[in-house]
Amino acid sequence: MGRITVKEIEEMKKKGEPIVMITAYDYPTSQIADEAGVDIILVGDSVGMVVLGYENTLPVTMEEMMIFTKAVVRGAKRAMIVADMPFMSYQVSVEDAIKNACLFIKECGAHAVKLEGGREVLNIVERLTEIGIPVMGHIGLTPQSIHKIGGYRVQGREEEAKKKLISDAKDLEKAGCFSIVLEAVPMDLAKEITENLSIPTIGIGAGPYCDGQVLVFHDLVGIYTHFKPKFVKRYALIRDIIKDAIVKYKEEVKTRVFPDKDHSYK
Ligand code: KIV
Repeated sequence: MGRITVKEIEEMKKKGEPIVMITAYDYPTSQIADEAGVDIILVGDSVGMVVLGYENTLPVTMEEMMIFTKAVVRGAKRAMIVADMPFMSYQVSVEDAIKNACLFIKECGAHAVKLEGGREVLNIVERLTEIGIPVMGHIGLTPQSIHKIGGYRVQGREEEAKKKLISDAKDLEKAGCFSIVLEAVPMDLAKEITENLSIPTIGIGAGPYCDGQVLVFHDLVGIYTHFKPKFVKRYALIRDIIKDAIVKYKEEVKTRVFPDKDHSYK
């Protein structure tokens, strides 16, 4: 089976086939997600919170993102890999944006990049797509603007904000994005945006009418449990399974049950 392409992702919207995206940051998780048959693996800058323990995504660097992206690329044979451009890797200048996006594509082997923002990033989207780098947009709740937004809350409830999101989505499509993440927006607004675009929307906390869905791996399997937004569905509670296994290991070492003869060399 070949690698999923941008064209196929766009076709899925036309066929009405939901697009499945999940985040991953390492080799084994990427392998598992790929074997499970997801369409897109996003190496999200959420890694900063769920893996590195930062308070938000702002401290994440290009160097960190490149290590995680390379590991994810090594793990997946079929899924498209999208690398998230971290805060300040594209906002300063178009030159910076091109240089950093190229690092993801050329050195890490990603197939596309994602960046946050609406009208303020249109020139960057245009340049990247002109030089052949597929770009996924991201509007609604954009965690890299957390200090401006003032908290992780639903966006686009007021008329002005709603209008801005609708026009940002249209502009991102015109600038060349092949898909757009809609994060934390009311489902009726997500529906309106989705119906107004010919490229797919991928929702997270944006209801059932988007063309696809994305969840953060650590939320989905229940490893990151400090904080659970309403839209997160936990399909497992792996944290408890891991903790039970480690507690058991600790007890067996303390009581000299492990290692036994079966786990030792003659
Ligand atoms: O960084 C991330 O994981 C994301 C998703 C929430 C879309 O941007």
